[in-house]
Amino acid sequence: MWTLASDIDGTLVGDRAALDRLAARIADLRGAGKLFLILSTGRRLAQVIDGLADEGLPEPDAVLCQVGTEIYRPPLKPQSEPIPEWRNRLLAEYSRDEALSFLEGIEGLVMQPDVFNTQLKTSCYLDGCPEPEVAAAEIRRRVEPHVDRYQVVWSSARDLDILPASSGKGKAIRFLVELDGLDAERVVAAGDTGNDAAMFFEFDRGIAVANAKPELLEVVRELGEDRAYLARTPYAAGVEEGLAHFGVLDGAPGVS
Ligand code: GLC
Repeated sequence: MWTLASDIDGTLVGDRAALDRLAARIADLRGAGKLFLILSTGRRLAQVIDGLADEGLPEPDAVLCQVGTEIYRPPLKPQSEPIPEWRNRLLAEYSRDEALSFLEGIEGLVMQPDVFNTQLKTSCYLDGCPEPEVAAAEIRRRVEPHVDRYQVVWSSARDLDILPASSGKGKAIRFLVELDGLDAERVVAAGDTGNDAAMFFEFDRGIAVANAKPELLEVVRELGEDRAYLARTPYAAGVEEGLAHFGVLDGAPGVS
């Protein structure tokens, strides 16, 4: 059985017709017991549930929310609790106050809305800083002596997250793979921005959709074409193309 761990925004979502086609193929594979689907996102759970109802997202076997700091299993309900074992493990290494201290005094920094700031995720926007890249580098420098407990995730030249060192999308998927006895050699990750990079580094196959941001394109170049496939098509069509490339699907329509 294959595992597809896919980001949502800018990866599955962006072209509804392409997503409908991909979702039908995913449903067939899941129905045949050939695919385990993990939605791996920066969204919070309520937004994933909305997406299942309104945006055509395929039904998953597990959902990682808030950039791998929360893991949920179906049935998904607004009041569902994340897997406590994962949460408690991360709580043991993370102090939100300390994470906030790394952001002090950065000119132009704006905190993200409260719903994206949790006990395990400290998130801000840097696109209002005079030089966002310089601000991100300064925060990384401050976190560097504490990499045993914290990590910085920088995405889309705008979003900066400070997460527990043991979390992130890649490590959260690894946890699920071990918990459920999934085949780690048959995990395919799909994404478009910096917070997806951890999945590409953690597993052997990554799909970057054609609309991927520069920070993920750099990861694709670094890993090389055996491990990271840059699709020619954007959004869900790119995921479908990548799944065909890695032999999970037999040839995507419209791609020669
Ligand atoms: C999503 C999350 C946001 C995070 C970003 C990058 O957009 O909502 O909090 O900063 O992903 O990881």
